[in-house]
Amino acid sequence: MAKPESAMDPVYLDWNATTPPLREAVDAVHRAALENWGNPASVHRPGQRARAELDRARASIAALVGGHPRDVLLTSGGTEANNLALRSARGPIVLSRLEHPSVVRVAEALEREGAVIGWVEPSSDGRVSPDRVAACIAALGRVALVSLQAVNHETGVVQPLHEVAMIARAAGAQVHCDAVQAVGRLSREHWAAADFVSVAAHKLRGPKGIGALVTRPGALVLPVLRGGDQERGMRPGTQDAALAAGFRIAAAHAIDGPARYSRLGALRDRFEAAVVELGAGVGLRIERNGTASRAPHVTNLSFGSWSGPELCAALDLEGVAISSGSACSAGTAEPSPVIRAIAGEARARGAIRVSLGELTSDADITRALVAFAHVLNVWRGSNPLEGSVPCFAP
Ligand SMILES: Cc1ncc(COP(=O)(O)O)c(C=O)c1O
Repeated sequence: MAKPESAMDPVYLDWNATTPPLREAVDAVHRAALENWGNPASVHRPGQRARAELDRARASIAALVGGHPRDVLLTSGGTEANNLALRSARGPIVLSRLEHPSVVRVAEALEREGAVIGWVEPSSDGRVSPDRVAACIAALGRVALVSLQAVNHETGVVQPLHEVAMIARAAGAQVHCDAVQAVGRLSREHWAAADFVSVAAHKLRGPKGIGALVTRPGALVLPVLRGGDQERGMRPGTQDAALAAGFRIAAAHAIDGPARYSRLGALRDRFEAAVVELGAGVGLRIERNGTASRAPHVTNLSFGSWSGPELCAALDLEGVAISSGSACSAGTAEPSPVIRAIAGEARARGAIRVSLGELTSDADITRALVAFAHVLNVWRGSNPLEGSVPCFAP
């Protein structure tokens, strides 16, 4: 008997939160956990086998991100990589509030501790303008680090990393790029100009709990934790060779990621066009803003009378998994700080993020659209749509 619709696997359109792990990556974690469980710092053979697992992972990550395997610092994920990069700055830092909380909140903490932070006002199209970065650097005089993500986690907007890096370098500053949402989706030139690059395995179909900060040769990373000499003393603590084995497989797979992701632009556009039509069908005003370039797999929209979390919950009941902000702020009623910074409080309260991935099919989009139509039209009685405005950022 065919399964009823509600019992089918949900259509997963929340790839920016995390990605379904590759079976080969899970198998590699499992195998290494059983076979290469030695302490990588030990000199004996079990230790050597675990260390070799880390080295293979470093080589695979360096091949994906760029740089030398020696400069791949293994961390517990993107959050820790970002913390390390910011806390290594020896002077003022320039960034915007469009960054992930694992960057913004570190900068806020540093500011409370007395560091000078230059906050760049983002543009309404969701970009950090190179001119504004230049003005901020000029106003501060001396800047140690400029932090700019490659792709925004909530809007998919591609940031002008290369231009900003040139400005930063000319002013003697180093550049950190949180490339967690770009690696495996876009080509390497989107973060190549940075001195420090953050990456997380679980965003590219690897395991959770492991990531890396990839640095330019010789770049100094100051440890956040104190302890042993692992990761050349920059990140003490016994490394997990099993997670590293999974990261190695995911990184190798992600090298061809940009080719797989490029087809998603057409699916995303089809989704947006249909949602616009859906909105028009119930008398909505449509507003599009901005022309900033976007990664092909993300859209961010809002329906004025719906709060983002309510719409997510309604769609979940219809078998579609999306989010109303980055996963780390999900579960809180706080509207997205990214959308608030670009478009204001009201737009942020209604924001939902739809993020596609390399397994997303045409049929998934069709199912998602049926669910959107059902929620927006049938649930209308309890949540009138008239006057609401779906819009995309940008
Ligand atoms: C842009 C960005 N940076 C950093 C992170 C944090 O990565 P992790 O979950 O591995 O700590 C995320 C996770 O959503 C992200 O989207």
